[in-house]
Amino acid sequence: PELAQAFIDEQAAAVREQIGDKKVLLALSGGVDSSVVAALLIKAIGKQLICVHVNHGLMRKGESEQVIDVFKNQLDANLVYVDATDRFLGKLVDVEEPEAKRKIIGAEFIRVFEEEARKVGNEVSFLAQGTIYPDILESQDGVKAHHNVGGLPDDLQFELCEPVKLLYKDEVRVVGRKLGLPESMVERQPFPGPGLGVRCLGAITRDRLEALREADAIVREEIDNAGLTIWQYFAVVPDFRATGVREGKRAYDWPCIIRCINTVDVMTAEVPELDWALLKRITARITAEVPRICRVCYDLTPKPVGTVEWE
Ligand code: XMP
Repeated sequence: PELAQAFIDEQAAAVREQIGDKKVLLALSGGVDSSVVAALLIKAIGKQLICVHVNHGLMRKGESEQVIDVFKNQLDANLVYVDATDRFLGKLVDVEEPEAKRKIIGAEFIRVFEEEARKVGNEVSFLAQGTIYPDILESQDGVKAHHNVGGLPDDLQFELCEPVKLLYKDEVRVVGRKLGLPESMVERQPFPGPGLGVRCLGAITRDRLEALREADAIVREEIDNAGLTIWQYFAVVPDFRATGVREGKRAYDWPCIIRCINTVDVMTAEVPELDWALLKRITARITAEVPRICRVCYDLTPKPVGTVEWE
């Protein structure tokens, strides 16, 4: 903790030196890295930081609300909140193919962020990013392109500000805690950029997306309450229905799949043996509380052959 405080003081001074009286733009997803960078920059330069949170309508339950609550209400950040739900879902109507969905979501994200950047463009000279050390190592190794920078328009002339780029994930978490971020944000499980979009299988519809969001919240709440440490744990809702019986009447509703995995390197992953009573409790709650879901399954497939996500 003392080291974390020293790091924060040192980086805040370095950032003030780098930025002067200019403004900085940050895409604030609600993920660990961007949240910690935002909190650090708020401490260093206050309202000179402009955070943009784009809600693509594919966030988990309560997630955008938490970003607003923590950053706007508690940390008094200069936060631009963009509810782009209709835009994203409009583009995704009838799109079934997973990679096509990813491309649309990624491209639309850049477009929305670019629009916001242009609105404040003249005053802003810096772009802050939650780049961490493994990102740099991986792009040097050619394992994957460093995605933080990619895709931003060339004519937006930003200089980069990357205050946690020499830290590993666990160190970023320590710094985040020291900066007063809530535990649920600091310990947030990895969540794909396309969000619930790749867990609402096939062509996304609003009613099925809503059922997924509710079921996913129950899975997370029950596993958190059980005090388990699992790498990723979430719900998936496929685009077909199954027969059931509810209050003496035939039901024809969606199934829901629980996906839990543990991993070290994400290249391979194991499925934890969840307690039977916990699985039954999650099943009882989802089928009782989510109106359009009538069955619950547990995915037993390790990676390989199954990937973490279903799409
Ligand atoms: P898979 O499904 O490939 O997932 O075994 C490995 C890890 O990557 C995450 N993931 C994504 N993250 N954009 C992201 O930012 C994506 O399109 C995407 N697809 C998968 C997944 O959650 C897991 O942690």
